[in-house]
Amino acid sequence: AVPPPFSVPLTIPKVLEPTHRSLTTDYYEVSIREAQVEVLPGLKTTIMGYEGLFPGPTIKARAGRRAIVKHKNEMAHETVVHLHGGHTAPEYDGHPKDPIEPGETIDYKYENKQPATTLWYHDHTHMMEAEMVFRGLAGFYIIEDPAEASLGLPTGQYDVPLMLRDSRFDDNGQIVFEMDDFRYRTTLLVNGKPQPYFKVAPRKYRFRLLNGSNERYYTLSLSDGSPLVQIGSDGGLLAAPIPATSITFTPGERVDVVVDFSRYADGTQIVLNTFDHNTTTPVMRFDVTGSAVRDVSRVPTRLRPMRRLGAADVNRDIVFKLDRTTGGFVINGKSFDMDRVDETVKRGDTEIWTVSNPDTQPSVPHNIHLHGVHFQVLDRNGQPVEGHETGWKDTVAVPVGGQVRIKVRYQDYTGRYLFHCHLLDHSSMGMMAQLEVVD
Ligand code: C2O
Ligand code: CU
Repeated sequence: AVPPPFSVPLTIPKVLEPTHRSLTTDYYEVSIREAQVEVLPGLKTTIMGYEGLFPGPTIKARAGRRAIVKHKNEMAHETVVHLHGGHTAPEYDGHPKDPIEPGETIDYKYENKQPATTLWYHDHTHMMEAEMVFRGLAGFYIIEDPAEASLGLPTGQYDVPLMLRDSRFDDNGQIVFEMDDFRYRTTLLVNGKPQPYFKVAPRKYRFRLLNGSNERYYTLSLSDGSPLVQIGSDGGLLAAPIPATSITFTPGERVDVVVDFSRYADGTQIVLNTFDHNTTTPVMRFDVTGSAVRDVSRVPTRLRPMRRLGAADVNRDIVFKLDRTTGGFVINGKSFDMDRVDETVKRGDTEIWTVSNPDTQPSVPHNIHLHGVHFQVLDRNGQPVEGHETGWKDTVAVPVGGQVRIKVRYQDYTGRYLFHCHLLDHSSMGMMAQLEVVD
């Protein structure tokens, strides 16, 4: 039932229009429901979707302008919506203790007091986020600001969000979810289509790459070896563009890149591949179509200065580990308890977290995602990081048998925020904890 690569065209998630606007606020409404959609040609797949779409509609917000998103749960199961990477007040952050019951609605208020960046929203139901995201509850949330707009990067139809994920289907095209069965999730989807092709003009494009897989890491490269120019990471623009022949990113991470197709002749086909476990797998194909066009977009040599966080006031050690006796996944020896506060953080303090992963036998990868904040990566196994990892991050890989050090400062709100492994099957099995920001 899964077609050969490049048999279906890429689709781009529709942009959600506000239902109304005020001087300060854009209002949106989203119905969360099951729907039948065509993922594999000729078959109808039952998904859970925002607006019944797979992926959900894209919300475009402006920095400094509030968005209020009214989510209505029209499913038979509870759900809760988290804006991943949003600097959101705790009561609107989609904590698993605040579910939307079937038939109910919740208004999520997003102040958008953060720079332009690529965020995403997804389900965060207690112990169920892995399955519910896998069944489709994920969408883009893009913040724009004047500083970014003034740079002249590709915009409009040349600014394309790409949600990369894998899936597992039965013979009838239905999604099969079994906890932690990543070996069977062999169908790669981009924006909900299996290994699509995308017709591009010979000019520059901005691609907002999201690793929307539950557990899969991607190491992306173009088939002709030409560079992907990294311009942004989880928290927005990098200080300067960084060309790379390959880019690795883990579940939940975003990397914004610019690809210049102007060097290719009409009819050229360039494959975006991922390299994993010694195999190269196509993710999608770019089909360069047409002859030279006028392209006024540019990638300036300076994008946005990186703010420094200063010397550390506090050091914390965090250990992510598979608990062999219970089969659960634990942080500092504990499985998630939504009523327990695991760490207390003083607002405005600069902290260094040393996050380690001793799971070498067998090797179990983890990453760490912090809600409500962006951080800087100091080093991994003592080595400086490169590329998109030099920018503002909210999710970062924790190396097997090693450690990553991050520098973080919570400054927007007080209250309780989650942090967890973003391999969602792990977080659903307990690899999540809670901190409280206090004054
Ligand atoms: Cu993207 Cu707590 O998650
Ligand atoms: Cu993990």
